[in-house]
Amino acid sequence: MMETLTLPPLRAAAGSVRLPGSKSISNRMLLLAALAQGTTEIRDLLDSDDTRVMLAALEKVGVGITALGGNAWRVEGCGGVFPVKDADLFMGNAGTAIRPLTAALALSGGSYRLSGVPRMHERPIGDLVDGLRQIGADLRYEANTGFPPLGIHPATVNLGAPIRLRGDVSSQFLTALLMALPLTGQRAVIEMTTELISKPYIEITLNLMARFGVQVEREGWRRFTIAAGQRYLSPGILHVEGDASSASYFLAAGAIGGGPVRVEGIGKDSIQGDVRFADELEKLGATITWGDKWVEAEAPRGKLKAFDLDLNHIPDAAMTLAVAALFADGPCRLRNIASWRVKETDRIAAMATELRKLGASVEEGADSIAVSPAPTFMSGTAIDTYDDHRMAMCFSLAALGGVTVTINDPRCVNKTFPGYFDAFAEITAPVIAIDGPSASGKGTVAERVAAAMGYHYLDSGSLYRLTALAALRAGVALDDEAGVAALGAGLPATFEGGRILLAGDDVTDAIRTEEISVGASKIAALPAVRGALLARQRAYRRFPGLVADGRDMGSVVFPAAVAKAFLTASAEIRAERRYKQLIAKGMPANMHALLQDLRERDARDAQRSVAPLQQCVDADLVDTTEMDIEAAVAAVMDVVKRQGF
Ligand code: DC
Repeated sequence: MMETLTLPPLRAAAGSVRLPGSKSISNRMLLLAALAQGTTEIRDLLDSDDTRVMLAALEKVGVGITALGGNAWRVEGCGGVFPVKDADLFMGNAGTAIRPLTAALALSGGSYRLSGVPRMHERPIGDLVDGLRQIGADLRYEANTGFPPLGIHPATVNLGAPIRLRGDVSSQFLTALLMALPLTGQRAVIEMTTELISKPYIEITLNLMARFGVQVEREGWRRFTIAAGQRYLSPGILHVEGDASSASYFLAAGAIGGGPVRVEGIGKDSIQGDVRFADELEKLGATITWGDKWVEAEAPRGKLKAFDLDLNHIPDAAMTLAVAALFADGPCRLRNIASWRVKETDRIAAMATELRKLGASVEEGADSIAVSPAPTFMSGTAIDTYDDHRMAMCFSLAALGGVTVTINDPRCVNKTFPGYFDAFAEITAPVIAIDGPSASGKGTVAERVAAAMGYHYLDSGSLYRLTALAALRAGVALDDEAGVAALGAGLPATFEGGRILLAGDDVTDAIRTEEISVGASKIAALPAVRGALLARQRAYRRFPGLVADGRDMGSVVFPAAVAKAFLTASAEIRAERRYKQLIAKGMPANMHALLQDLRERDARDAQRSVAPLQQCVDADLVDTTEMDIEAAVAAVMDVVKRQGF
């Protein structure tokens, strides 16, 4: 049975997301590192289907590749001579792998076969093959002329005349030739016979070739010359930027769902053309802010402005605008996007079919698409994704129309962004924040509210308790800020059906002792410790939603929570509750000491400089002094219901 993912109706998007590495840069860097002399270390490489295809192919032709952990890889360059001269290579549906490899292998003097999934055998490669044949390379179609699978054989090449190449089907053909031609050592000239599309991708190619020491002379976008005798040399260590195409979904979410949404990993100096997507969003009325290593988008008041745009320079990110059109104040048109027809699927046709399911009227042109949004979204729609990662990611945005949306085959996002839906949940899944002093009953209340809503539950205090316990066990002093923070960042904790494990050891009761309560309160005052636990807490924000309890859920960790409650009770009644709890568990307890401890902890939690315990202005006060648990749960559920849930 096909897997599906149902997104709940979403009302808002806010927060920040760390982007995975760019696909375009990752696969180009891998190939250039393989073709270079010397060893290259590539950091922050994208971990996805398409990069795995490239890594596996390079290994198969004898390139030395080592995983260094944490998305860092070492590539032993072979100086353009692949050690394995005969191989059968599977390219999946990775256009950024098959095109450049076809060119590099055709000039490397071996016999190779390249094939892929059925869709890959429908994606054109004829212009590239024609280009390579002009200089004498030996490539043969194994099935249909103009399409993979391909056989490649050794041949002597001669670059006496310019290579004449079409530019209007895919810019990847030019990229492939540019990257491979320095292997010949000869002077190479490429002349475009038709208008070049997707020019920014060629900029990425030229930029990365230059980092490996090869200069290309460019005359407009018509003629490219590589001087004789240039060789690729490893630049040593390289970093991959975040993926600008992947950024488009989050930026659009910010522009549609309030925002601000920040993407981290690309910034104003990015070399990827798709960062220009942010400029297009700006034309729709969004507010865009640029940092060195981040970009942020915030929604306009009211709807996005209707648009009519030429999007030839950002073909991939443009898909995101087709779905954003559903949120515009009038009919929209996306122009000059013919390349959509030859991507993972026929994206113009696929987009039209799926947008119509949500209620929009759509007109399909040969190289354009027009979308007229309907006043309301159709709910409960099941979106087909056509084995196209971008279809799945784009249509997640439709849930911001306040309707349930089911994404069929959501795993197709693995092509470029395996963690996409978790990242999307981190900016959109509804959060109910319950803060308050210790023993106010918020833990029990939060757990019951989570059960009633069918949401996940985060007991953030347990993370501080676990960190304190880990410090005590490791002999790290509780005032050693850096030491405790390091423990917090790498906490080997798991939560399994009500039990809490630390490095496999059941510590459910061990973290509830008074010693740990006091320890947790002390380390919670250290800014570095709080910082170390922040990302971990935010990662609990998953679909369909999260109830989080603690001290700073509404103020710091989830400031955009949809409902916020501040639960409190008199110190005396809280001490009495704790006393009864401890006695019930057979633990020793002293009422007087408990009350004093509680007051000290309240003071420490309230007076610390970072994220002190306080009632947010937008939180509802629930005083449980006179309430039992049922009444307290009902009071918090009232707060939630008042927000329209
Ligand atoms: O909620 P609790 O008693 O389990 O929390 C243990 C300690 O952790 C408490 O002294 C305050 C601290 N804490 C915090 O500073 N921020 C949170 N979000 C949760 C707990």
